[in-house]
This record gives sequence, structure tokens and C-alpha cells, in this order.
Amino acid sequence: MPTAEAPAASFGQGESEPYARALLTGTGTLTLRPESGHDPDEPVTFDVRNWCEDASTAELSLLQSLRGPVLDVGCGPGRLLAAARTLGLAALGIDTSAGAVGLARDRGARALEQSIFAPVPQSGHWQSVILLDGNIGIGGNVGALLGRCRQLIALTGTLLVEVEADEHIDTAYSAVLEDQHGNRSEAFAWARTGTAGLVSRAQAGGWSVTAIRRFQGRVFCSLSPRPGPVRSIP
Ligand SMILES: C[S@@+](CC[C@H](N)C(=O)[O-])C[C@H]1O[C@@H](n2cnc3c(N)ncnc32)[C@H](O)[C@@H]1O
Repeated sequence: MPTAEAPAASFGQGESEPYARALLTGTGTLTLRPESGHDPDEPVTFDVRNWCEDASTAELSLLQSLRGPVLDVGCGPGRLLAAARTLGLAALGIDTSAGAVGLARDRGARALEQSIFAPVPQSGHWQSVILLDGNIGIGGNVGALLGRCRQLIALTGTLLVEVEADEHIDTAYSAVLEDQHGNRSEAFAWARTGTAGLVSRAQAGGWSVTAIRRFQGRVFCSLSPRPGPVRSIP
């Protein structure tokens, strides 16, 4: 399975800062594409409003099934943190984007501007960890990200992961983000996977897959940690 080389930059940051620009207006589109024009991976286009608006009904119902405290990995502008709060769940967001963390805090959420791979408070005590809306791609190595979440979650906890609707997608590459005006980011490591790639790495990495749910064309997997040493599978 391909594993991306690891550029140091983070999602949509650097060069013309398309992610920070998009968050300022909360509108427009951002396209994620391989840095190399020869890479066969298809571009993915995001509607920025989806990250800036309130959580959807489907997302609310997923959050309702979780126990707090909740760690939102790559929380973006904090719509899931705000929804967790309305449900009475204690929640913390982690995000490398200063703009995203600022917007999350404006919503009254608790969020830290840092990488998920840096030290996180209450490590090993999070009852729920969420990786939604493509965030399984963070770091460009699904096995390593699952391994990091395994360090952070409580043994009785649940990891909720959104995967690609096409179960056979399984790819990692050096990506760039570009807005509709041609503002491009630096290259950063990203990954995309469907249920097949997620399930095989989860099982090899000390997780049990307890549920796979499909809502409105989106696919969500629930994982429980198995007792034992934490392993990171590429
Ligand atoms: C696709 S956006 C998802 C936004 C949010 N989850 C939502 O559904 O509204 C990806 C987010 O992951 C963040 N991110 C990327 N790399 C990260 C890292 N290593 N640690 C924490 N957050 C990261 C980005 O800054 C960005 O806000």
C-alpha cells in the first residue's frame, strides 16, 4: 500500500494559504489534488461552508451515541465541538490551523492549536476520539494516525472514523490544496481510505471494528481499542 513521503507542512497551509483565506469568508471551494500532475489520484473538491456551518442532523445523531470527554482531531472551525456542547458532552479540539482554532473558540469551544502528533492533554483518558470529514488523511499515514489515536483513547473508548464512500479507495500522497482563485498551499502529506483499508489497518493495529454505518452517502466506522501494546501499521 502506498505511503506518502512526509512533507512538513500541514493541510492547506503555506504559500498562498488557501485554507486560512477560505475560513475568513466561510465560502467557496477548495480542491485537494496530488502535488505531481502525473499522480493518478483524483482531485477532491470541498465546499468550505460545510466546515463552517452547524453540524448536520446525521453528525448530531452520531455524536449522540458517544460518551464524553470527546477529542475532535482536526476540529477545523469547531462545528462538531459546538454540537457536542449542546449535547452536554465535554469536548476538546486539536488543529494545526490558527484560523480554524480561532473560529472554534469564537463558537465557545475548547481548542488547541497544535498537531495531534504533539503531546495532548488527558492522554489515555478520552472516551471518544473523532476523525470526521476526511481527517483519517491527517499525516498521510492511516496506520500511524490510528496508532496515535490508540495512545490517546481510554481502553473503554470509541474511535469514530469517517472513511471514503468507495470502500476500495486506499491511497496516500503528497497533496496541495487550491482555492477557486488559484491560491495554492505548500505540499503536505495526506491519505484517503475506504472501509477495506481502514478495517485491515485497524485490526492489525490493536482495534476491533464494532460498527460500520452509512448515512446520506457518508460512511462511518466505530472502533474499540483491544488491550495490549500499541502498534502502528503503515
Ligand atoms: C478537512 S478539514 C476538517 C474539518 C472538520 N473536521 C470538520 O468536519 O468540519 C481538516 C482539518 O485537519 C486539520 N489538520 C491537519 N493536519 C493536522 C494535524 N497533524 N493535527 C491536527 N489537525 C490537523 C486541518 O488544519 C483542518 O482543519
